[in-house]
Amino acid sequence: MSPRPAAAKSDRSKGAKRPPVKLAPGVAARVAAITAVHAVFAEHRPADTVLDDPHGPFAGLDPRERALARAILGIALRRHGQIIDALGRFVEKSLPRKSGHLAAILHVAAAQILFMDVADHAAVSIAVDLASQDHDARHFKGLVNAVLRRLTEGRDAILASQDEAVLNTPDWLAAGWTKAYGADTARAIAIAHLEEPALDLTVRSDPALWAEKLEGIVLPNDTVRLVGHRSIESMPGFEEGAWWVQDAAAALPARLLGTVEGKAVADLCAAPGGKTLQLAARGARVTAVDISVDRLHRVRQNLDRIGLDAELVAADILDWHPGRTFDAVLLDAPCSSTGTIRRHPDVALLKRPADIASLAKLQADLIARAVDLLEPGGVLVYSTCSLEPAEGEIQVQRALARLPLRLVPIEPSEIGGLSELCRSGQLRSLPTDLPATEPRMGGLDGFFAARFVKT
Ligand SMILES: C[S@@+](CC[C@H](N)C(=O)[O-])C[C@H]1O[C@@H](n2cnc3c(N)ncnc32)[C@H](O)[C@@H]1O
Repeated sequence: MSPRPAAAKSDRSKGAKRPPVKLAPGVAARVAAITAVHAVFAEHRPADTVLDDPHGPFAGLDPRERALARAILGIALRRHGQIIDALGRFVEKSLPRKSGHLAAILHVAAAQILFMDVADHAAVSIAVDLASQDHDARHFKGLVNAVLRRLTEGRDAILASQDEAVLNTPDWLAAGWTKAYGADTARAIAIAHLEEPALDLTVRSDPALWAEKLEGIVLPNDTVRLVGHRSIESMPGFEEGAWWVQDAAAALPARLLGTVEGKAVADLCAAPGGKTLQLAARGARVTAVDISVDRLHRVRQNLDRIGLDAELVAADILDWHPGRTFDAVLLDAPCSSTGTIRRHPDVALLKRPADIASLAKLQADLIARAVDLLEPGGVLVYSTCSLEPAEGEIQVQRALARLPLRLVPIEPSEIGGLSELCRSGQLRSLPTDLPATEPRMGGLDGFFAARFVKT
């Protein structure tokens, strides 16, 4: 969606130069958030592809508008179920098909009215203005005004009547987590997803020093954690490559390969490269393989910034036959990513049960290839950022039944003493782990990892 200023119309004569569009403060942020919400809900695009699109709605926003747009988008996705429930109380019929960005305009305005500290009148009047500028939504500007005004009046009663854990979690995910972890933990996971998580950094050395410089804390596994940070690129240590962004749980699987110095290690499914960096930093000779050339480009950028090196290979691992084997293999397989809903709330909206089944099949095939690429006696670590046992524990049982593998239990001492994450010798982290008094300083991405030796 792009706002069309009234003045632009008269400048459309041939050759006339259009003046740059000057928007009132906060309007560009709402336009970007509406476009992104429409992309996620109507086009089923991951939010990151919209945020990172160099021609997308966030490109060229000034830092203030960008920060506001991101904040609105985050709430719109994280609290989607409550927003839809609240709007549904005032919109009697389902919205017509040909109503442009109407649903996204209402959703973004409701996110602000219900959950953000912005003036109600600004949220409502910008929404009405933007509806009137949308070719298909303009017929509904009266509805936008009426619905949003009633929402502002009913806000407190609506919020008091809602169960936030239930409304913001798709039923099939909640059912799966209840089966896997019990009803109380499943509910606690859903509640943990409502909080925007802290920023986690893996540092090359001296975590205490970097925690002090960045005003963060050091977690038991040496991750530095901070909240309220400024843009990543402007933080001390970024330019000089002293650290990289990596959730504390995501930093654990690479450690399970043990001493890797001088060893030939295949990092399969490597991009964007958090684990490649860890392995290279610990002296491994890393071959990082990924199917995506674009994503491998990010691995190269990350290696260059940190001052490390690895061999990068763009290939589908199922068809990759390098004619050699490796001392150790890390397979961080593609998965549903339901363990990252705290950081990527759109995952809960975009994934379907059928995705788990097809990803589990791909993971099983990738594990078999990983075993082929491993020297007998070599170590294989399999990991996923998923909360679904089909992509973790069940995958391990199946691998042990059909492949020449033996499980090597993970010891708490290998992962910073975090014994609560060692479940039956395997690593299983949940968003409810590592609780802290300040909720944003607690939690981990949901990760699974198991370690094998090739027999
Ligand atoms: C979970 S991400 C990996 C994250 C990465 N290990 C890290 O720590 O930054 C999964 C990756 O698998 C890659 N991928 C998916 N299917 C693949 C295949 N058949 N062969 C190679 N790479 C694949 C995707 O492009 C994606 O980059």
